[in-house]
Amino acid sequence: MKKLYLIVGLIIMFFIPHMNTFKVSTLPSQELLPPPIAVNMTLEESIFRRCSIRIFSDEPVSEEELSTILWAAYGYIDEEKRTVHGINGLYTAKIYVLKEDAVYTYNPLNHSLIFYKEGDYRKLVAQYDAPIQLGIVWDTTKSSNENYASAEIGEIGQNIYFMANALDLGTVTTVGFTLSQIGLPPSDVPKIIMPIGHPKYPYNFVYCPLVFSLLPRIQYSNMSLTDAIEERREAEFFGGELTKQEEFQVIWSTYGYSYLLDKTKDEFYYHINRHRTVPSAHGYYPLRIYVVKESGIYRYIPNIYDPIYGIYLLPFSWFPIPVVTFMMKIKSGDYRDEIAQASSPSIATAPLIIVSVLDIERTRPKGFDDFSGEEFRWLWYYEAGASAYNALLESTAWGLSANVFPIVDKGTVLSVLGLNGDDFDPLFIVAVGK
Ligand SMILES: Cc1cc2nc3c(=O)[nH]c(=O)nc-3n(C[C@H](O)[C@H](O)[C@H](O)COP(=O)(O)O)c2cc1C
Repeated sequence: MKKLYLIVGLIIMFFIPHMNTFKVSTLPSQELLPPPIAVNMTLEESIFRRCSIRIFSDEPVSEEELSTILWAAYGYIDEEKRTVHGINGLYTAKIYVLKEDAVYTYNPLNHSLIFYKEGDYRKLVAQYDAPIQLGIVWDTTKSSNENYASAEIGEIGQNIYFMANALDLGTVTTVGFTLSQIGLPPSDVPKIIMPIGHPKYPYNFVYCPLVFSLLPRIQYSNMSLTDAIEERREAEFFGGELTKQEEFQVIWSTYGYSYLLDKTKDEFYYHINRHRTVPSAHGYYPLRIYVVKESGIYRYIPNIYDPIYGIYLLPFSWFPIPVVTFMMKIKSGDYRDEIAQASSPSIATAPLIIVSVLDIERTRPKGFDDFSGEEFRWLWYYEAGASAYNALLESTAWGLSANVFPIVDKGTVLSVLGLNGDDFDPLFIVAVGK
């Protein structure tokens, strides 16, 4: 009799934690995704077309499309290499895939969806209705650094934007705390939700390069989006010289404006807008991009008229900004050694070093939400991660070598750039060479 109790007890102990899984025996516990589609759009066209879409049609997203977006977001290229760069070599994100029937997690190892929970949670968690919602979390068992995890999620977000758009789908980065309502393990901290669907109002882009640019005109490389993702390699040594064209292609990719005017019409208004290469929470765009070269330190000015509140003026923004873009010289002299000591000694010989710096004042514009506190810093690391990742892709497309470095000694970087630590926070360094 005792034995029987023991057996029944063991069976109950096994079944209770798995109850949810057993309840849905009709759904497979793991579903392999079809192979991703190769996208031929050039990398620059993808970057030009990056924009946020918030209204979707009911048209479903096919399994091939979902597979392609998930692979670009966080898949494997070969046995070791991922489609995005892990800050400090760590991979700390996890993607939940919310479909009509159930919630799944993306398993990059065999490119499959693992069943997580039955039920349609999409409306419950999302800001915008769409056939698929991707919930991206920071897996705290992999790293305790929220800012670097957010930067990695920023990279993932870029590939979701690029791939969705290239497939004529759309997406937007949204803050994703509501994802906790699906019942996440305590170690998974929700960060971002990105809806995926067909835009209700078709894209309408018109090629219109900047008329008054003082910098070389952005050119299309011969590399497709898929090839750029697949061929991305992080360099360990940097040298050689870059042409002005190569140099500016990479600088532009970090924070510049598109050469396409977005003339998408919807039922509310007919707007003309020029998006930027990365998204930004509330459209604040608070980063400064500095360039450190042998000849001196420069600041990239993507637009002489740079409205903090661009997003709020959208319905009225008929003027195809920006007006003028240029590099502003801050000081002469070779400061690459100092920057290398503050991050990685290997970059002292890099012909181009890009430093992204948060301008804290721009994260608390008067009359708008204040995102300047430490608790919001992850939002800006997301943006800096997206920006650095663009530089890696653009360097790949131009046959250059590049890598992203966290900043170990922020004080030195601030002093080299002549900035005050109360108002500015240096976030990342990208070194580029040949
Ligand atoms: C970290 C982050 C959080 C964001 N959160 C939201 C959000 O919660 N809701 C939303 O509608 N857009 C959100 N956005 C999108 C921005 O509003 C958008 O990128 C910006 O207005 C520029 O527009 P564009 O992406 O179409 O060029 C977010 C963007 C970032 C980078």
